[in-house]
Amino acid sequence: MRTPAVQSVLFVGGKRTEALEAARTAGLQVIYLGRLGDMSDRHRQLADAAFLFPEFSPELALGSAVALHAFLPFDLAYTTGDAYLRIAAQINDRLGLKSNPLHTVRAVDDKALMREVLRGKPVGQVASAEVRNRTDLEHFATANGFPLILKPSRGSASKDIHVISDATSLADTARTAFTEGDTAEDAAPWVAEELLDGREFSVETHSAAGEHQILAVTEKFKNEHCVEIGHVVPARVTAAEHTLLADETRSVLTALGVEEGPAHTELILTARGPRLIETHTRPGGDAIVELIKIATGHDIHGLTFAWLSGKPADAPFEPSAAAAAIWFRTTGPGRVTAAGGEAAARTGEGVLFASLSAAVGDVVREARSSDDRCGEALAVGDDADTALRRAQAAVGRLVVEVEPLDAG
Ligand SMILES: Nc1ncnc2c1ncn2[C@@H]1O[C@H](COP(=O)(O)OP(=O)(O)OP(=O)(O)O)[C@@H](O)[C@H]1O
Ligand SMILES: [Mg+2]
Repeated sequence: MRTPAVQSVLFVGGKRTEALEAARTAGLQVIYLGRLGDMSDRHRQLADAAFLFPEFSPELALGSAVALHAFLPFDLAYTTGDAYLRIAAQINDRLGLKSNPLHTVRAVDDKALMREVLRGKPVGQVASAEVRNRTDLEHFATANGFPLILKPSRGSASKDIHVISDATSLADTARTAFTEGDTAEDAAPWVAEELLDGREFSVETHSAAGEHQILAVTEKFKNEHCVEIGHVVPARVTAAEHTLLADETRSVLTALGVEEGPAHTELILTARGPRLIETHTRPGGDAIVELIKIATGHDIHGLTFAWLSGKPADAPFEPSAAAAAIWFRTTGPGRVTAAGGEAAARTGEGVLFASLSAAVGDVVREARSSDDRCGEALAVGDDADTALRRAQAAVGRLVVEVEPLDAG
């Protein structure tokens, strides 16, 4: 049981409303603070009060939340949006509101810092270093060898992930990644890591008073640019592999100081055991919340707000299917000349959802970031293989034809 129980929540930023719905269901007062353009009709229905700004900088969010608290006190600042996690933690820290500690949220939000915090802790160790220029990267390669990975320390959506296999690709990557002569301390930091080899998973958890409940292990599929193109729950793992992934996730969350709420922890199962890629103090994206609800019965937002409001966690709903999968449509670069097939995709057996975001005339890119994906389908089945096959078949029915951009 959480003490003190939360009665009023300040939701910071974001377009999504699932967490607000769960807070209302738990009987909490809902206050929304965010960008004017992000406020939907559904937000309006769910919020008891809303404070909106045309633009919403971190400074404005922190300052206005602190001022607001003086005349409309709330017990917790909360968000599920990556862009606002650090701000919500700063608000809680400044106002002395109980939550995940600010140092925990900072570490989770900064891949280089996270590796530093975990160095020497009882978790699988990964060679890594913060790098800001080519010299730093060369030092890392000399010390740790190839292959290695270079990524933005505060990146998201798999943007700018570089796999570096040798000195030539290091030189090529350094040319594109680093600004010439970048030695200044304020250069955007990158992190270099040893390249972990193995299947990739995410572990979805809910923490309460530092105890981490495993909700599901999700199997993840990615393309050659490390962009996620599919997920299935439950992951196709042995009981022993499940235990390894679950134990490592608990150790990581404890080592980082995660106290409460949802977390989404990404790991690669290497020959040496599970190794952390990164974790987030929020639920997984890419419809993972839905996959888990369908295939395990756990309602992540419901669990969170039951805990926060001091209620015993509701008994999970019954799973509605044994397995659920999502698959994404990707395409080559160009201008879209034909788009469709959603209706056909939805008729597939076990398909719950299929949609295409590309429309004729759009300029699309090859998938080098999650934002470049242009369609998706969610399907269920009696086992993970079946759910995956159905989601993939539905995505195969989504039509996206492109012509090269210089074709007219
Ligand atoms: N050290 C590593 N070894 C092997 N693969 C890695 C490593 N680091 C990252 N990757 C691959 O790149 C992907 C994206 O990396 P990461 O999750 O750190 O970045 P991100 O931009 O936050 O991604 P996302 O927001 O899509 O989860 C990982 O899911 C993984 O497939
Ligand atoms: Mg990631």
